[in-house]
Amino acid sequence: MLDKTDIHTRLEAPVLKDYGVYLAVDRLLACQKPLATLVTPDELQFQIVHQVEELWMKLAAFTLAEIDQHLRDGQFMRAITLFGRVHMLLRMMTDQLALIETMSPYDYQAIRLQLGNGSGQESPGFQMLLTLPAGLWDTYRTLYLDPQKRTLTDIYDTGYAHDEAYMVAEALIEFDELFQKFRAHHIYLVHRSIGMGSKAISGRAVDLLDAGARHRFFPELWAIRAQMTDRWGAAYGVKRDSIRHGDAGHGSGV
Ligand code: HEM
Repeated sequence: MLDKTDIHTRLEAPVLKDYGVYLAVDRLLACQKPLATLVTPDELQFQIVHQVEELWMKLAAFTLAEIDQHLRDGQFMRAITLFGRVHMLLRMMTDQLALIETMSPYDYQAIRLQLGNGSGQESPGFQMLLTLPAGLWDTYRTLYLDPQKRTLTDIYDTGYAHDEAYMVAEALIEFDELFQKFRAHHIYLVHRSIGMGSKAISGRAVDLLDAGARHRFFPELWAIRAQMTDRWGAAYGVKRDSIRHGDAGHGSGV
């Protein structure tokens, strides 16, 4: 049988060797409520998941600043590698939301009363990430569009060469997509734990979260696809010829 009291005591007073000192494990493990004061055992998970997500957002924001610098320094390969890191962080952030779905709605109600007026909307990491894409787009325009007088139509379509300008644009849209996927998964988490019809702390959660999930950081990068589809589609009209054999009257007849 496990001695729960002893486990709690040891968790709260870790023995630090060099590893623990370097990683400040004592301070890290003191960032959660004292175990004796948890309103329900699930509160520890609730705090840790949010804290871990905050750390991933810190790393993502830090890395985006590095990427911007590398792009401006002409270090394209480094930027692409680091974009991969940021994308992975966003995927992990999204996956890790599922941990919270192992908590019952009942247990969450008790935790919710502990939050004061707080909600994830106030997350410093999330608020920081929201502010960065505008600057990255500015860098993109300054490096890849303005000086060569290129347009996205050129990069994606009429002058398509799968070049650096294309690769960076794709890394940006990937960030946009993954960020919105995080938001979409979070909406399911909210549905699952408190429901979307309930009153939220800062107005109607459903409106706020839905508006956020519709947002796009790089609307031009989304628009270029639609423009291409319309342009290429114009060659054969809106309704396409069938490609079925012998589809009389619709005439491909391949
Ligand atoms: C039981 C679990 C959760 C519930 C019930 C919940 C609920 C909510 C609600 C109702 C909002 C809308 C803002 C408001 O009403 O003030 C919100 C926003 C937000 N939450 Fe959560 N949340 C949960 C877990 C998480 C987790 C684990 C994260 C991880 C970072 C998170 C991050 C966010 C963020 C970033 C926003 C702002 C979203 C946006 O503006 O699009 N939430 N949350």
